Amino acid sequence: MKTRHLIDLDDLSLDEINQILDLAKVIMAHPPYYLDSCHGKLMATLFYEPSTRTQMSFQSAMLKLGGQVIGFDNPGNSSVSKGESLKDTVRVVSNYADVVVIRHPKEGTAKAAGMFSRAPVINAGDGGHLHPTQTLTDLFTLLNTKGRLDHLAVGFCGDLKNGRTVHSLIKTLIRYPGSRFILISTPELALPDYLKDLVRAAGCDYTECASLYDAIGDVDVLYMTRIQQERFASREEYEKQKGAFVLDTETLKRARYGLKILHPLPRVDEIDYAVDDDPRAVYFEQTEYGMFARMALILHMLDGSKKQLDARPESNTPHRCANPRCITSTESYLPRLFKKTDGGLFCEYCDAAQPAGGGEEGR
Ligand code: CP
Repeated sequence: MKTRHLIDLDDLSLDEINQILDLAKVIMAHPPYYLDSCHGKLMATLFYEPSTRTQMSFQSAMLKLGGQVIGFDNPGNSSVSKGESLKDTVRVVSNYADVVVIRHPKEGTAKAAGMFSRAPVINAGDGGHLHPTQTLTDLFTLLNTKGRLDHLAVGFCGDLKNGRTVHSLIKTLIRYPGSRFILISTPELALPDYLKDLVRAAGCDYTECASLYDAIGDVDVLYMTRIQQERFASREEYEKQKGAFVLDTETLKRARYGLKILHPLPRVDEIDYAVDDDPRAVYFEQTEYGMFARMALILHMLDGSKKQLDARPESNTPHRCANPRCITSTESYLPRLFKKTDGGLFCEYCDAAQPAGGGEEGR
């Protein structure tokens, strides 16, 4: 059966991902053919957290397909400000819309929303967890600029702990043969262990490194990210990491001729403005590729979709996740969902490892 919701790109087979990318290429070549593809369809964008690219590229994508858009970009102007739960908001909005795009600061929100939505839900970023449509953007950018998605040495630089775009892209690139990663961060902002375990389990190589200057010569792709101020517990903690990595023209002299520099944006201070003029910098093209990728995704998600509520796991036991940034910390009705692996017990909403003996084991 076709995937109804896009919470994680793991919800799609590699064939489906490649089909979406192929469709994006056709749409990009012939936009007028698709002007009426979504005539009569409505997309709701529920943005509980700020956004420029994701929100506007989804909106542009739907409008260019002939559909229409409703939603909010400030929950303070919606009934969320009166205390309405995620469950009720999504249940109501999915009565109006044919597809629901949601961004939220809490990890696992899109998964939770999918349980109560009658329309397909697309994860537009859930806290520091995942951002699958940015990954479609990144893959489509790589296809168009590098010409392939396999056998790439990719350097990820910056906030690898909180960077949801990094998490989603790594989870997807390990599905393509020959992917290799250089993880460039401070120890405090290193990639979470559960993702390193996935990379190892997929048989991919990775190395960790604290110097962009040392690593840049070894990569085909450099994926820069900002230090995510909004995910830090305090301003003081952020200040300790701020400015840790800056890509400037001097550092770029050590890079390969065919390097491609990607960045999900927004940029703060991690790429010097002088780098923008280097032909290897493709982060502004990336934003346009993202719109075509989202047009293809919308068509894929709406194709044959019917309004329905999915079956939910029944549980009278409250879900208690150890991660305070998990959506279950604020939405108390969510059913209990943990998965047990050789590596321990993990929350199925946010993927956080649960401490041994934390009370959830064996329930
Ligand atoms: N890349 C990205 O998610 O940007 P926005 O936060 O502006 O949507």
